[in-house]
Amino acid sequence: MDRRVGRILISRDEIAARVTELGEAIGRDYAGRAPVLVGVLKGAVVFTADLLRAIPMPAAMDFMAVSSYGSGTRSSGVVRLTADLSLSIEGRDVIIVEDVIDSGRTISYLRRNLATRHPRSLALCGLLDKVSRREVEVDVDYVGFVIPDEFVVGYGLDYDGRHRELPDLAVLEPAVPA
Ligand code: IMP
Ligand code: MG
Repeated sequence: MDRRVGRILISRDEIAARVTELGEAIGRDYAGRAPVLVGVLKGAVVFTADLLRAIPMPAAMDFMAVSSYGSGTRSSGVVRLTADLSLSIEGRDVIIVEDVIDSGRTISYLRRNLATRHPRSLALCGLLDKVSRREVEVDVDYVGFVIPDEFVVGYGLDYDGRHRELPDLAVLEPAVPA
């Protein structure tokens, strides 16, 4: 199905301003500590890199990958770990950094998985939160933007591997019948 990139939902300037605020909030909450940001591959790479630089303290960065989506725009509900951390998080203050929290399945799987490794604390920072789509309850500690039930691309987020390079967050338009 061919779908095209439509209107900008959140501009690069709005994203940058919000990432600065999130970094400041994390800076206040983690004063005197050195958190580990765990970015969820691949969608959260761009956000994680920006957030790392917005946090006014030394912070480590690592990544995990999970697969839950096929090539469509809806979660299959089945989550599988496909790449693991390279750091130990035992005793560390961990902040999971995710691009979109949708049904909540991916993040609750990750939270459970990371909790078994005995971090000192475990928090969640999501760039986008589709609150109206939630199927499992999730505590999100830091939210960039609450957005409606629309599929968005850009700023690292993809549709079938495409559009990650766009600097703004844009809505993916449904296919127009020929
Ligand atoms: P959940 O498990 O249903 O919460 O799905 C979360 C995952 O779905 C995220 O990690 C994203 O990779 C993906 N996802 C959900 N909505 C969007 C979107 O609008 N654009 C791009 N990816 C999305
Ligand atoms: Mg993702």
